[in-house]
Amino acid sequence: MMSGRRPLIAGNWKMNGKPLEGASLARELRSALQDPPAVDIMVFPPFLSINTAVEALKGTDITVGGQDLHPEAGGAFTGNVSGEMLKAAGCKAVLVGHSERRTYEKESGELLAAKVAGALRAGLQVIFCCGETSDERDAAVTQQVVVSQLNDGLGDLRATEMEQVVVAYEPVWAIGTGRVASPEQAQEVHATIRSWAAKTWDSGSARALRILYGGSVKPTNVAGIMAQPDIDGALVGGASLNADSFQGIVCYGGR
Ligand code: 13P
Repeated sequence: MMSGRRPLIAGNWKMNGKPLEGASLARELRSALQDPPAVDIMVFPPFLSINTAVEALKGTDITVGGQDLHPEAGGAFTGNVSGEMLKAAGCKAVLVGHSERRTYEKESGELLAAKVAGALRAGLQVIFCCGETSDERDAAVTQQVVVSQLNDGLGDLRATEMEQVVVAYEPVWAIGTGRVASPEQAQEVHATIRSWAAKTWDSGSARALRILYGGSVKPTNVAGIMAQPDIDGALVGGASLNADSFQGIVCYGGR
């Protein structure tokens, strides 16, 4: 990477850890990252661990986000959490469009666009996830799949709203499988995403857009990924659940 875009390393804890465990992971991160390099760092705990994580990370530069939100600000939506609630709990960002939610919760492009709008209304940054399945890659439709996910979720935003959006490219076949995309495979899709942004808005928006790679990122493979010109950071699942390995990823370039 390089280009003036500040790298972002984000940890998606998924459905792992009870509130006290979230608090202790956050405290371990706090001490492991006392002297962090010049990258933005975010963690996305389960809803019930947001409070304890925010508390444990107070006074640090590590920010906390939610893994999902409902498009509406409040009301009769049993079991849901709004962007406004996340914001009030101390969140700065929210994930939208993760493939696990697209698959298991059957989230549609239309719903994701509404969630993006809800997040921006609440004043949250959006980490918008996209990525192809292994069948789609084999059928050589990766670029079309990713561009159509991006158009559905983000295509109606204004350029100024895009300043609050980060895109995360997460090939489904690389998530939790140990089968990381090669730096070249990832770079190819990241370049497509950046040129999509240039065509949809303008070259300035495209240059400013941060695009993260996600899928089996580990301390041992992060440097090669981060060396690519259009890769601005990582969205990390499994390896973000251990303070040492997350620290190893955050400090990918050494100190
Ligand atoms: P893994 O790093 O466990 O492959 O998960 C990636 C991911 O889905 C992050 O959102």
